[in-house]
Amino acid sequence: MFAMTEGKYATKADLYTEARTQLSTLLSAETDPIANAANTTALLFGTVPDINWAGFYFLHSETELVLGPFQGKPACVRIAVGRGVCGAAVERGATMLVEDVHAFPGHIACDADSRSELVVPLVREGSVFGVLDLDSPLVGRFDADDQAGIEALAAIYVETSDWRTGQ
Ligand code: SME
Repeated sequence: MFAMTEGKYATKADLYTEARTQLSTLLSAETDPIANAANTTALLFGTVPDINWAGFYFLHSETELVLGPFQGKPACVRIAVGRGVCGAAVERGATMLVEDVHAFPGHIACDADSRSELVVPLVREGSVFGVLDLDSPLVGRFDADDQAGIEALAAIYVETSDWRTGQ
């Protein structure tokens, strides 16, 4: 049984250091990309404070993301590349840190409670194959420390998950 550490951390650096250790342990014995995505979202949802949604979208074609494992309220299933915050992250191949989703043109509202968003592209062999998306009910919830922390966790997911044996 995996014992998730839920607690208060003095700094975000402490939180993400512990989260990296926990995620590496959690994914170390498994390469299935869907199982690992599911456990990644469970860990994030249980350890990162003040978020209302954490989940994956995967590219099922060059033009469309499809919802993957997540924690939170039911979400929109298909997002065109270039649309919304997730589609923008794929198109740009870069992390999107949106302080106020109401001010982001084209933001796709899945949960009306979401006010800020952090979307990290998943990159394998130089190509984006999906995104890891976090939503918060607080405006300005995510900063550069969260971006670096979530990017490092996304990298652990990519390294440990083998898509040749998946889908
Ligand atoms: N807000 C996202 C859509 C996904 S949900 O947040 C779960 C977007 O604009 O792409």
